[in-house]
Amino acid sequence: MGCCLSILSLLRPVEAEELPEEEQYHNFKDIVKDADDKSDLLQRVRSGGIYLDNKRMKYWVDESGSNCFMFFARSLSITWDADEQYWNWIPSNESGEEDVEVACLKDVCWLEVQRGFDLSLLSPNVNYEVVFILTMKDFSHGWHNIVTLVLQRPDNTRHEQKLNLNPEKLKGHWEEVRVGEFNSGNSTGSVRFALFDTESEQWKGGLVIKGVVVRPVRTGSA
Ligand SMILES: *[C@@H]1O[C@H](CO)[C@@H](O)[C@H](O)[C@H]1NC(C)=O
Ligand SMILES: *[C@@H]1O[C@H](CO)[C@@H](O)[C@H](O)[C@H]1NC(C)=O
Repeated sequence: MGCCLSILSLLRPVEAEELPEEEQYHNFKDIVKDADDKSDLLQRVRSGGIYLDNKRMKYWVDESGSNCFMFFARSLSITWDADEQYWNWIPSNESGEEDVEVACLKDVCWLEVQRGFDLSLLSPNVNYEVVFILTMKDFSHGWHNIVTLVLQRPDNTRHEQKLNLNPEKLKGHWEEVRVGEFNSGNSTGSVRFALFDTESEQWKGGLVIKGVVVRPVRTGSA
C-alpha cells in the first residue's frame, strides 16, 4: 500500500507551483511574530517596512525579495546608556512612523556600542553590508581620536577598521558609516558588529545613533 502510494506520488505531474507570498521571504512568519502592528504585513514588508518589538527593529524586503533589517539604537547594547549623565534618549523627529528613539551621547570616555544577531533573520547566499546611521549635534567635542569598527562574520573571521568620525561631515543629516560585508551562507550562525573607542581616554560627546542597517550590498556601489 505504502509502496503504491509513493509510486503514485512520483508519477504526479510536477507543477510549476507558486509559493504562497509569505513563504517567498526567508523566515517571514517567524519574524513578523514580533510585529507591532499585524495588519497588511505582506504589503508593508515591501513598502515602508514592519516595526518589530516596540520599534526596536524594522524589517523589510528589497526589490529582490531579500530580508533587510534596521536595528534601532534601543536594540543595541550601548555602555552607560541608562545613565543620563552620559547618554540621552531623544526622538529622531522624523515624519510618520520612523520617529523612533535615538541615542544621543552627552559625554563619555568609554564608548562602546555593539550587538549580535542570528543569521536566521537573513535570506541565504546574499552578500550583506552592515551600516551605522549616525549624526552629530552642534555641541560635539572630543572626536580627534579614531574609533574602531568591527564585524565578526559567520565564519568567525573579523573585519576591523579604524575611522575618524569628522563631526563637521556628520552634522545636519544622517550619515551612513559602513562596518563591513559578509555572506549569509545557509542562514545559520551569527554576526556581531561593534563601534568603540575604549582606549583613547578622551572624553567625547555629540554623537547621535539612530541604528544599524543590514541590507544586501548594492551591486555597482563603491
Ligand atoms: C528632536 O527635537 C527635540 C526638541 O526640539 C530636540 O531636543 C532633539 O534633540 C531632536 N532630536 C534630534 C535627533 O535632533
Ligand atoms: C551551514 O553552513 C555551515 C558552515 O558552512 C555548516 O557548518 C553547517 O553544517 C551548515 N548547516 C546546514 C543546516 O546546512
